[in-house]
Amino acid sequence: MKRIYLDHAATTPLDERVLREMKPFFSEKYGNASSLHSFGREAREAIERARETVASAINAEPEEIVFNSGGTEGDNTAVHGIAYPNRKKGRHIVTTKIEHHAVERACEFLEKDGFEVTYLEVDREGFIDLPKLEAATGKETILVSVMHANNEIGTIEPIAEIGKICREREIYFHTDAVQSVGKEKIDIKAMNIDLLSASGHKFYGPKGVGFLYVRKGTKLRPLMHGGGHEKGLRSGTENVVGIVGLAKALEIAEAEREKEAARKRKLAKGLVKQALEIENSWMNGPEIGKKRLSNNVNLGFDFVEGESMVLMLDDKGIACSTGSACSTKDLRPSHVLLAIGLKPWQAHGSLRLTMGRDTKEKDIRQVIESVNEIVGKLREISPMYKGGN
Ligand SMILES: Cc1ncc(COP(=O)(O)O)c(C=O)c1O
Repeated sequence: MKRIYLDHAATTPLDERVLREMKPFFSEKYGNASSLHSFGREAREAIERARETVASAINAEPEEIVFNSGGTEGDNTAVHGIAYPNRKKGRHIVTTKIEHHAVERACEFLEKDGFEVTYLEVDREGFIDLPKLEAATGKETILVSVMHANNEIGTIEPIAEIGKICREREIYFHTDAVQSVGKEKIDIKAMNIDLLSASGHKFYGPKGVGFLYVRKGTKLRPLMHGGGHEKGLRSGTENVVGIVGLAKALEIAEAEREKEAARKRKLAKGLVKQALEIENSWMNGPEIGKKRLSNNVNLGFDFVEGESMVLMLDDKGIACSTGSACSTKDLRPSHVLLAIGLKPWQAHGSLRLTMGRDTKEKDIRQVIESVNEIVGKLREISPMYKGGN
């Protein structure tokens, strides 16, 4: 059975070209980048080359890139790292109701520690309202954290406008760009971003490595203390092989970005058009081709359980995910789908399909055929479904 992988928002395979670049750093070039000898210097040079590649992809300076273990660490470092050293100025943070748990839970932790957090509502398509963001900020606000692109419904938030508002008010602005780096153009200077988190495994790089962009002059406290690596912002022996892989993956993603986005957008359009021919179905998130990640499709079907759909599709070799976070054994409906106004049962009936570089038109045809059949079967056994209503 040919397997079709449509869960690229969860993770991507490692690109062969990335693997080739990484290989020498597993074996011959194994030096510790802090060592003074030639092995160490070799590793250090590789890290600094990678830093330049990453910086140039987002129009940053190399010294503003902090390598770390990925998105979760980047988000936590940004939220906690700004909150504590800046609390004399204020204890208020503004974020949204649709952030990844790495930002959401970091904020909830701060609430228990005397900070006040405003969680902005979003509209039906997942967009925040800029005047409401402006109104939510005040003299006490020290940080605004709004994700660039949503991992469930693909909504791309107005980052440049948010950055402008924050810069004018001298409030730090962090964006979780884990889903958008390598897929959307990012210019941290033009967008007035102070902190940006990214993760290698979302753009065909290795897992367990990422970076946090930290604008020069930002008052940030590290999460970890130790040998003072990464300018004291991320202690711990550098993951040289991971960093080399991440940089190569980003270089490839940037070179292929526009062509790939156009190709996936076309596939997404076709997929949505056919899926919406199934009765009592709908699409979550913005229209395809508008401010939405090119590879993201999120569909809803009345009278079916998303988890059952995912498992039945898996039996047919198709890998995708549902709106509810059952992978973490949490059966509550997705907080993102609830925030855009879905009822809990509707949120349970949703399916996220995220395409990758190897997704072809014939895969989409097969997926549609399978979804159609499975939705029909599940509705047959649903006590709620009367047929045609
Ligand atoms: C938007 C977003 N932020 C953060 C993360 C966490 O990244 P990581 O897996 O590198 O910890 C993810 C991963 O799914 C994500 O989609």
